Amino acid sequence: MSLPVVLISEEEIQQRVAALAERISDEYGDDDELVLVGVLKGSFIFLADLARKLTIPRTIEFIAVSSYGSGSKSTGAVRLVMDVRGNIEDKHVLIVEDIVDTGHTLKYLIGMLESHRPASVKTCALVRKAERAEVDVSVDYLGFDIGDEWVVGYGLDYAEQNRTLPYIGVVKPTD
Ligand code: PRP
Repeated sequence: MSLPVVLISEEEIQQRVAALAERISDEYGDDDELVLVGVLKGSFIFLADLARKLTIPRTIEFIAVSSYGSGSKSTGAVRLVMDVRGNIEDKHVLIVEDIVDTGHTLKYLIGMLESHRPASVKTCALVRKAERAEVDVSVDYLGFDIGDEWVVGYGLDYAEQNRTLPYIGVVKPTD
Protein backbone atom coordinates (compact mmCIF):
# COMPACT_ATOMS: atom_id res chain seq x y z
CA MET A 1 0.00 0.00 0.00
CA SER A 2 1.25 3.49 -0.88
CA LEU A 3 1.91 6.15 1.75
CA PRO A 4 -1.16 8.33 2.21
CA VAL A 5 -1.13 11.56 0.20
CA VAL A 6 -2.90 14.40 2.00
CA LEU A 7 -6.34 15.09 0.53
CA ILE A 8 -7.92 17.07 3.39
CA SER A 9 -5.54 18.60 5.91
CA GLU A 10 -5.93 18.50 9.67
CA GLU A 11 -6.63 22.24 9.69
CA GLU A 12 -9.31 21.95 7.00
CA ILE A 13 -10.98 19.13 8.91
CA GLN A 14 -10.95 21.01 12.20
CA GLN A 15 -12.41 24.14 10.60
CA ARG A 16 -15.16 22.14 8.89
CA VAL A 17 -16.02 20.18 12.04
CA ALA A 18 -16.29 23.46 13.98
CA ALA A 19 -18.60 24.90 11.29
CA LEU A 20 -20.78 21.77 11.34
CA ALA A 21 -20.95 21.87 15.14
CA GLU A 22 -22.03 25.51 15.04
CA ARG A 23 -24.76 24.76 12.49
CA ILE A 24 -26.03 21.75 14.41
CA SER A 25 -26.02 23.73 17.67
CA ASP A 26 -28.03 26.48 15.98
CA GLU A 27 -30.55 24.15 14.37
CA TYR A 28 -31.32 22.06 17.43
CA GLY A 29 -32.59 23.90 20.46
CA ASP A 30 -31.36 23.74 24.04
CA ASP A 31 -34.59 21.91 24.90
CA ASP A 32 -34.16 19.21 22.26
CA GLU A 33 -32.90 15.88 23.50
CA LEU A 34 -30.18 15.30 20.91
CA VAL A 35 -28.61 11.86 20.69
CA LEU A 36 -25.51 11.49 18.54
CA VAL A 37 -25.35 7.94 17.18
CA GLY A 38 -21.83 7.09 16.03
CA VAL A 39 -21.43 4.25 13.55
CA LEU A 40 -18.50 2.04 14.52
CA LYS A 41 -15.77 1.91 13.87
CA GLY A 42 -14.96 4.70 11.46
CA SER A 43 -16.90 7.53 13.14
CA PHE A 44 -15.09 7.44 16.47
CA ILE A 45 -12.70 10.35 15.90
CA PHE A 46 -15.16 12.56 14.00
CA LEU A 47 -17.81 11.92 16.65
CA ALA A 48 -15.40 12.75 19.48
CA ASP A 49 -14.41 16.07 17.92
CA LEU A 50 -17.91 17.02 16.79
CA ALA A 51 -19.54 16.16 20.12
CA ARG A 52 -17.04 18.29 22.05
CA LYS A 53 -17.64 21.30 19.82
CA LEU A 54 -21.44 21.31 20.19
CA THR A 55 -22.82 23.95 22.52
CA ILE A 56 -26.18 22.25 23.17
CA PRO A 57 -27.05 19.31 25.43
CA ARG A 58 -26.23 15.97 23.79
CA THR A 59 -25.78 12.34 24.64
CA ILE A 60 -23.75 9.69 22.82
CA GLU A 61 -24.72 6.25 21.55
CA PHE A 62 -22.91 3.84 19.28
CA ILE A 63 -24.16 1.38 16.73
CA ALA A 64 -22.28 -1.23 14.73
CA VAL A 65 -23.14 -2.74 11.38
CA SER A 66 -21.48 -5.07 8.98
CA SER A 67 -22.02 -5.96 5.34
CA TYR A 68 -22.98 -9.51 4.49
CA GLY A 69 -20.11 -11.52 3.07
CA SER A 70 -17.13 -10.05 1.25
CA GLY A 71 -17.56 -7.40 -1.39
CA SER A 72 -21.29 -7.39 -0.85
CA LYS A 73 -21.68 -3.70 0.01
CA SER A 74 -23.24 -2.85 -3.32
CA THR A 75 -25.98 -5.43 -2.73
CA GLY A 76 -27.16 -3.25 0.13
CA ALA A 77 -27.28 -6.16 2.54
CA VAL A 78 -26.39 -4.63 5.88
CA ARG A 79 -26.47 -6.51 9.17
CA LEU A 80 -26.91 -4.94 12.60
CA VAL A 81 -24.09 -6.05 14.91
CA MET A 82 -24.79 -3.78 17.88
CA ASP A 83 -27.85 -1.62 18.53
CA VAL A 84 -28.01 1.56 20.59
CA ARG A 85 -27.96 0.88 24.32
CA GLY A 86 -30.15 3.73 25.55
CA ASN A 87 -33.80 4.55 24.86
CA ILE A 88 -34.07 6.97 21.92
CA GLU A 89 -37.87 7.11 21.76
CA ASP A 90 -39.08 10.72 21.33
CA LYS A 91 -35.49 11.98 21.13
CA HIS A 92 -33.78 13.70 18.21
CA VAL A 93 -31.27 11.33 16.61
CA LEU A 94 -28.28 12.45 14.57
CA ILE A 95 -26.44 9.59 12.87
CA VAL A 96 -22.71 10.35 12.66
CA GLU A 97 -20.77 8.60 9.89
CA ASP A 98 -17.20 8.96 8.71
CA ILE A 99 -18.02 8.19 5.09
CA VAL A 100 -21.00 7.65 2.82
CA ASP A 101 -20.01 5.51 -0.14
CA THR A 102 -22.85 3.63 -1.88
CA GLY A 103 -25.28 4.94 0.75
CA HIS A 104 -26.68 1.51 1.63
CA THR A 105 -25.42 1.62 5.23
CA LEU A 106 -26.91 5.03 5.96
CA LYS A 107 -30.22 4.15 4.33
CA TYR A 108 -30.44 0.98 6.39
CA LEU A 109 -29.57 2.85 9.60
CA ILE A 110 -32.20 5.55 9.06
CA GLY A 111 -34.91 2.90 8.71
CA MET A 112 -33.61 0.86 11.61
CA LEU A 113 -33.39 3.84 13.97
CA GLU A 114 -36.81 5.13 12.91
CA SER A 115 -38.24 1.86 14.21
CA HIS A 116 -37.23 3.06 17.71
CA ARG A 117 -39.79 5.89 17.31
CA PRO A 118 -37.45 8.85 17.83
CA ALA A 119 -38.70 12.44 17.46
CA SER A 120 -36.51 12.82 14.33
CA VAL A 121 -33.61 11.19 12.50
CA LYS A 122 -31.01 13.26 10.67
CA THR A 123 -27.62 12.40 9.22
CA CYS A 124 -24.11 13.80 9.44
CA ALA A 125 -21.09 12.53 7.53
CA LEU A 126 -17.57 13.82 7.27
CA VAL A 127 -17.04 12.72 3.66
CA ARG A 128 -19.21 11.44 0.84
CA LYS A 129 -18.25 9.83 -2.46
CA ALA A 130 -21.09 11.31 -4.48
CA GLU A 131 -20.24 9.47 -7.69
CA ARG A 132 -20.46 6.10 -5.91
CA ALA A 133 -24.04 6.63 -4.72
CA GLU A 134 -26.34 3.69 -5.43
CA VAL A 135 -29.28 4.77 -3.33
CA ASP A 136 -30.86 8.13 -2.67
CA VAL A 137 -30.05 9.06 0.89
CA SER A 138 -29.77 12.58 2.20
CA VAL A 139 -26.85 13.80 4.29
CA ASP A 140 -28.14 16.72 6.33
CA TYR A 141 -24.73 17.79 7.60
CA LEU A 142 -21.84 17.04 5.25
CA GLY A 143 -18.17 17.79 5.69
CA PHE A 144 -16.70 17.19 2.22
CA ASP A 145 -17.59 15.64 -1.11
CA ILE A 146 -14.67 13.64 -2.48
CA GLY A 147 -13.91 11.60 -5.59
CA ASP A 148 -13.82 7.83 -5.89
CA GLU A 149 -10.49 7.31 -4.15
CA TRP A 150 -9.56 5.11 -1.21
CA VAL A 151 -9.19 7.40 1.77
CA VAL A 152 -7.70 6.78 5.19
CA GLY A 153 -7.23 8.76 8.38
CA TYR A 154 -9.46 10.58 10.86
CA GLY A 155 -11.20 7.27 11.60
CA LEU A 156 -11.06 5.80 8.10
CA ASP A 157 -8.96 2.70 7.49
CA TYR A 158 -7.49 0.48 4.88
CA ALA A 159 -7.23 -3.05 6.32
CA GLU A 160 -7.54 -1.48 9.81
CA GLN A 161 -4.46 0.71 9.25
CA ASN A 162 -4.14 4.51 9.38
CA ARG A 163 -7.35 5.26 11.33
CA THR A 164 -5.50 7.63 13.68
CA LEU A 165 -3.93 9.95 11.10
CA PRO A 166 -5.02 13.54 11.88
CA TYR A 167 -5.69 14.21 8.19
CA ILE A 168 -7.52 12.38 5.41
CA GLY A 169 -5.17 10.91 2.84
CA VAL A 170 -5.46 8.92 -0.35
CA VAL A 171 -3.87 5.50 -0.74
CA LYS A 172 -3.62 3.14 -3.66
CA PRO A 173 -4.42 -0.28 -2.18
CA THR A 174 -3.16 -2.16 -5.22
CA ASP A 175 0.40 -0.79 -4.98
C1 PRP B 1 -17.77 2.34 6.16
C2 PRP B 1 -18.42 3.59 6.73
C3 PRP B 1 -19.87 3.34 6.55
C4 PRP B 1 -19.94 2.44 5.32
C5 PRP B 1 -20.36 3.26 4.15
O1 PRP B 1 -17.70 1.37 7.16
O2 PRP B 1 -18.07 3.79 8.06
O3 PRP B 1 -20.45 2.71 7.68
O4 PRP B 1 -18.63 1.91 5.11
O5 PRP B 1 -20.44 2.47 3.00
P1 PRP B 1 -21.75 2.43 2.10
O6 PRP B 1 -22.21 3.85 1.92
O7 PRP B 1 -21.27 1.82 0.80
O8 PRP B 1 -22.77 1.59 2.77
P2 PRP B 1 -16.76 0.08 7.03
O9 PRP B 1 -17.57 -1.06 6.48
O10 PRP B 1 -15.52 0.45 6.28
O11 PRP B 1 -16.45 -0.26 8.53
P3 PRP B 1 -15.61 0.56 9.63
O12 PRP B 1 -16.37 1.86 9.89
O13 PRP B 1 -15.61 -0.33 10.81
O14 PRP B 1 -14.23 0.83 9.07
